[in-house]
Amino acid sequence: MRRGEDSNSIMVVGGNGLLGSAMVSVISQETDWNVIVSTRTYLADKSGYERWDSGSRQEWKDKILTKRWKPDVIVNAAAMTNVDMCEVEREEAWKTNVDLVEIVAEMARKVNARLIQISTDYVFDGATGPYTETDRPRPVNYYGKTKLAAENACLSSGVDTTIIRTMWLYGTRVKEKRTFVDWVKESLSSDKEVSVVDDEIGNPTFTEDVAYATVKVIEKNIGGILNIAGPDRISRWDWAEKIRSEFELRGKGRMRKIGTKDLKRAATRPLNSGLVTTKAASLLEFKPMSVVKGLQMQRITEERETR
Ligand SMILES: NC(=O)c1ccc[n+]([C@@H]2O[C@H](COP(=O)([O-])OP(=O)(O)OC[C@H]3O[C@@H](n4cnc5c(N)ncnc54)[C@H](OP(=O)(O)O)[C@@H]3O)[C@@H](O)[C@H]2O)c1
Repeated sequence: MRRGEDSNSIMVVGGNGLLGSAMVSVISQETDWNVIVSTRTYLADKSGYERWDSGSRQEWKDKILTKRWKPDVIVNAAAMTNVDMCEVEREEAWKTNVDLVEIVAEMARKVNARLIQISTDYVFDGATGPYTETDRPRPVNYYGKTKLAAENACLSSGVDTTIIRTMWLYGTRVKEKRTFVDWVKESLSSDKEVSVVDDEIGNPTFTEDVAYATVKVIEKNIGGILNIAGPDRISRWDWAEKIRSEFELRGKGRMRKIGTKDLKRAATRPLNSGLVTTKAASLLEFKPMSVVKGLQMQRITEERETR
């Protein structure tokens, strides 16, 4: 990592989100880097919170440009992640997923920081997964289009950039954000019926694995596009079965198997998806958690927190 004038510092944009908060926690615990957290309303570092007027992007730029906020690395984990909402509220989706990224890249260039942009398997059409880093993107929904445009904006910005593509994130719950795991677990435990598709295939990925991989990407100075995902490529239905088993929910609620066409969702999904992670395995010695182990980690963490 490039040394800053005072200390190494890393800014996590979207640091309150599902992945962003795992990044902040892993970086704070595993490295001695100074972590600056940027959320929609706050910029904060280890010394406390500082108010940031979310309406004023200029103020955000100014703060980064001052010596105090000058990061060596900026990780952008902020995005509008509700895929169906992106399909409908296209202007807002573009503003968050592309315009904001362009501003982040501009700031990275001005302060000579490395940029790590978090992206997704949704840049692919899901016809011939799993996908490698060199496969040709062809998004089938608006969210995927915005994320591909963001990748291109970063890669053509002249900034030292890494695109980390990941998918099907889960981990300990943050605020109101519910993952697929939370949805299945909470619905079954309150004796509800869940309809789960069996024709969407991908890799469930534990958020902390992405955070650890990001630390290694920074330490090893890896650029370009890199897939980071869990080792098991399974259907949503099989994932739900594993959730039901790990959280001991057999006999609670009901699971109904359906096909994607049965759900009238605004956005088309890439069905036969998944990410090949052999590049990360060789460059980073990336050994992500199996879905069974990840679910077990989530359960143990949640049990500890509610004690
Ligand atoms: N979740 C997945 O399964 C998945 C899969 C593949 C890729 N990804 C990618 O991984 C990254 C993180 O996803 P996530 O699931 O952790 O997302 P998340 O929990 O929805 O968090 C996204 C964060 O983005 C921030 N944000 C949203 N709109 C914003 C705006 N207009 N201006 C500034 N900040 C804004 C929010 O900040 P505040 O908290 O301050 O409101 C939020 O904390 C994203 O790039 C996403 O595309 C996610």
